[in-house]
Amino acid sequence: MKKIIIAIDGFSSCGKSTMAKDLAREIQYIYIDSGAMYRAVTLYCLRHRLFLPDGGVDTSSLEKEMNRIRISFQLNPETHCPETFLNGENVEQAIRTMEVSNKVSPVSAIPFVRAALVAAQQEMGKEKGIVMDGRDIGTTVFPHAELKIFVTASPEIRAQRRYEELKAKGQNVNYNDILENVKQRDYIDQHRETSPLRKADDAIMLDNSHMSIKEQKEWLLQQYHHTTQEQ
Ligand code: DC
Repeated sequence: MKKIIIAIDGFSSCGKSTMAKDLAREIQYIYIDSGAMYRAVTLYCLRHRLFLPDGGVDTSSLEKEMNRIRISFQLNPETHCPETFLNGENVEQAIRTMEVSNKVSPVSAIPFVRAALVAAQQEMGKEKGIVMDGRDIGTTVFPHAELKIFVTASPEIRAQRRYEELKAKGQNVNYNDILENVKQRDYIDQHRETSPLRKADDAIMLDNSHMSIKEQKEWLLQQYHHTTQEQ
């Protein structure tokens, strides 16, 4: 069957990656979490002290160091889930902390960071057969993707989901801090100048506030079958 590109965009913590990962596994496509790439650059900035006291980024130093940042994904043979590597080190856990979540928006608003990561993402999708999730996949990275989904859910439901996810990982987190972070990131993601978060005109909208993971999975699989039958 002809392979396609599936772009899944939407707000933070709305279950995009769970949906995307499940679909990719089911149809044997490559799954790329583009948010993990912005998180990896943020982790690099934290480790190399590239944040300024006012919370901004030392962009001139980061620009010089950008070509030293190598991000890749490798499939974990036990979980069969792709994990993120930064310059050869597995950073899958390190990029999911609240510290990284709190700093990632200013990093992902920097045009040269976006240009570098978008180019890397486009390269990964050259052969198609890929499911990629993020904020600008259907608008900027793959504007010609055959299937585009835009996912949304209320901020409170998204904060609750992230709270439960972090708690399950043993992190000591506070629901209100997470809700604040979700709202702040929504605002920054939608209002940045380069590739703001928005629904592509030809994307299908999915509000999954009241859907189970199983229902989302089935819905997405239906969209995939529908699109590939039309090809
Ligand atoms: O999906 P996530 O929460 O792990 O993404 C982390 C951040 O990266 C998010 O605040 C916005 C940014 N991001 C982006 O700007 N463009 C993408 N394609 C993916 C993520």
